[in-house]
Amino acid sequence: MTQTFEMTVNGTVKQVEAAPSLPLIYALRNELGLTGTRYGCGLEQCGCCMVLIDDEPAYACTRTMDSVAGRAVLTAEGLGGAANPHPLQQAFLDEQAGQCGYCLSGILISAKALLDRNPKPSRDQIVAALDGHLCRCGAHTRIIRAIGRAAALLRGEEPA
Ligand code: FES
Ligand code: FES
Repeated sequence: MTQTFEMTVNGTVKQVEAAPSLPLIYALRNELGLTGTRYGCGLEQCGCCMVLIDDEPAYACTRTMDSVAGRAVLTAEGLGGAANPHPLQQAFLDEQAGQCGYCLSGILISAKALLDRNPKPSRDQIVAALDGHLCRCGAHTRIIRAIGRAAALLRGEEPA
């Protein structure tokens, strides 16, 4: 049995007709066309489905629709786009931080959550924030550097 769920997605109120047990990722990708959120393991093991729910990182592969009703969801598309990239997106481009890119939407989301609460993270703090993310391309070093670069950009400083 489906029902109508209302939530705010990337700043816009959306209504989705879905079963209460439907994982959020399917509503984002199939109903709202937000395919930036990626499906990997479906088991909270890879992090590529990470979104913010009320500003907290959450796995869209296991969060069900009934648990997100009335909440605010941010996906990678909500950060910015080609015409207006978020400093994180710009820093990932500048550092060429990624190869296939499959993991990056989720990593960008966790990085945003980190920088929102800690504008000047150490390398160890960046690594800890990415603990729930796998990058099978092995782009970790560039990803960590890009997050440090974005932090500097957001502080209005020249990246190191
Ligand atoms: S798809 Fe959600 S953690 Fe892997
Ligand atoms: S860039 Fe390919 S999985 Fe991370």
